Amino acid sequence: MGPCKVNYSVLLLSFFIVSFFVPHCLSIGDEADQRAFLRVNASEASGRPIPKTLFGIFFEEINHAGAGGLWAELVSNRGFEAGGPIIPSNIDPWSIIGDEDSSLTVSTDRSSCFELNKVALRMEVLCDTKGTNICPAGGVGIYNPGFWGMNIEKGKKYKVVFYVRSSGAIDVSVSLTGSNGLETLATCEILASASQVSNWTKMEVLLEANATNHNSRLQLTTTRKGVIWFDQVSAMPVDTYKGHGFRSELAEMLADLKPKFIRFPGGYFVLGDWLRNAFRWKATIGPWEERPGHFGDVWNYWTDDGLGYFEFLQLTEDLGALPVWVYNNGISRNDQVSTSHVGPFVQEALDSIEFARGDSNSTWGSIRAAMGHPEPFDLRYVALGNENCGKKNNYRGNYLKFYNAIKKAYPDVKIITNCNGLCQTLDHPADFYDYHVYTSAKDMFSKADQFNCTSRDGPKAFVSEYAVNQDEAGNGNLLAALAEAAFLIGIEQNSDVVSMASFAPLFLNDNDRWWHSDAIVFNSSQQYGTPSYWVQHFFRESSSATVLHSTLQKNAYTSLIASAIMWENSDDNKSYLRIKIVNFGNDIVNLKISVDGLEPSSIQPSGSTKTILTSGNQKDENSFDEPNKVKPTQSPLENADKDMDVVLLPYSLTSFDLLKESSNIRTARTDSFCKSSF
Ligand code: AHR
Repeated sequence: MGPCKVNYSVLLLSFFIVSFFVPHCLSIGDEADQRAFLRVNASEASGRPIPKTLFGIFFEEINHAGAGGLWAELVSNRGFEAGGPIIPSNIDPWSIIGDEDSSLTVSTDRSSCFELNKVALRMEVLCDTKGTNICPAGGVGIYNPGFWGMNIEKGKKYKVVFYVRSSGAIDVSVSLTGSNGLETLATCEILASASQVSNWTKMEVLLEANATNHNSRLQLTTTRKGVIWFDQVSAMPVDTYKGHGFRSELAEMLADLKPKFIRFPGGYFVLGDWLRNAFRWKATIGPWEERPGHFGDVWNYWTDDGLGYFEFLQLTEDLGALPVWVYNNGISRNDQVSTSHVGPFVQEALDSIEFARGDSNSTWGSIRAAMGHPEPFDLRYVALGNENCGKKNNYRGNYLKFYNAIKKAYPDVKIITNCNGLCQTLDHPADFYDYHVYTSAKDMFSKADQFNCTSRDGPKAFVSEYAVNQDEAGNGNLLAALAEAAFLIGIEQNSDVVSMASFAPLFLNDNDRWWHSDAIVFNSSQQYGTPSYWVQHFFRESSSATVLHSTLQKNAYTSLIASAIMWENSDDNKSYLRIKIVNFGNDIVNLKISVDGLEPSSIQPSGSTKTILTSGNQKDENSFDEPNKVKPTQSPLENADKDMDVVLLPYSLTSFDLLKESSNIRTARTDSFCKSSF
């Protein structure tokens, strides 16, 4: 007998009969055998271009995301300034080596050479190398354990910089040691005469570690009697992402997401509980030694602001993303500046745009140039406040002052309002409206069609914070991530009215578990992506792609959602049809996929792939012990074709990437896009 030829339309008809005319028998008697049908129209006329900036990331200084995280500085509270300008200051987490009564006394005073951060540490050494009060062999002094231990690795180099002053000669050992000081990983002795350090003097040493210890500390010790002042002590790994001070492993995880924008630096971090503790960008630029630092009172920790406005702009450039700069517009969580007094805040905003984009001869552009970036940064988006629309007294008034001033000086800058334009017409001008959603998995899944009914006119949505974060999400599990994937599929389908979207929060330092779930979890030496992080990988080719019309038919008991895009892979210059499907149920689903509008034989099985994110249990999470428990797996798709039968695993996200024969995908420029019915 020759090969059995099946008439596809007959097959399809039988499928419909089985699926839709006998659904109750199937669903009652055999829920494990669910069926569905996805029809994708891949013709040019069916497509609509997805905005170039659809998927990005939101960095907030929360959970020690930056200080003790993405920013590679190892010393915490490097200027002894954490208590603010008052004396005695809070030197935490610095600690003393030696007996405080007999060997040394440590205090702070306001004698620093840095005008904006006057606090310095004064160390009076009472013991000596000779006489009646001999110093212990290892010396006395101070140490800094960093942010829950410094990660020091064998063979790597660390640059230690500090400022010192003394009335006498000094002999100070700068060392990286284990957490109890007994194991020396690297050390260098600094000898200087009294005249060399009678004024504040900058010292710089390069230490190379001879062993690895993930819980190390930096020590400044001496065995010589005298009084020494220290200030602005920094220890940075020499090897950072693109040499710009970002912890490489964490920055690489961001780069892998191919974000098209970065919203920063918050969130509530921008606002402060009180305005006096808000993020004020001018205090975060210029030489790091001169930055006063500030206490972020919403997330309750001090930041030295090494990761300042300039560094955020640098990060966006390094990751090939556009900055979305969030301003404090004179409103914190508890106090506000009235519209008649908001002028200085408006000026601060204008100055910040000049800092980012101005000519290197301009007032603020020249400071950027002096920091090593004469070329302007590509700042095009600013957001006015965060979740402030409800602040009825001043939000709109303040907003309009900012809006008018910015549009007058920089007409091309796009402005994002905090007021929700989803279901109502805004009562003020805006280019985008900010939309945040934190909810349960079930609700997030149902929000996939949230934007279906939104007016197609007016400002577009910027979904700048979304996450499943209720108890069922644990520390970030598969269930939460799949619901988010469904939500993102909905956004992709509605990308004519949603222009940007980013998950929140991005980072969690395991030692400061303030807000979870998050995308990336780390400690001093390890990091892993949560399932939510891996979901974002499925969408990293979506920005600039073409979303296709697709129709999903399923019975009422099946929780599926799907989308189809056509994307160009710049690595191999080939075109792919990507079909993504979330199965949000406990049953296996047999899915028939049919792609219309392609030339015959235009799908190449060789080079086509299937990528799945799933796990044995919907509540499964990743951890330091099992960082790859829930991670996408890719395999060749041997039956890749215009018509395919595929199996969707329970609680899974699957992406089918079908390699197209021809790479000539032209983007259809049409506004009349017909959305799928889910
Ligand atoms: O992402 C954490 C917080 O959630 C943000 O700071 C705030 O905007 C939101 O309420």
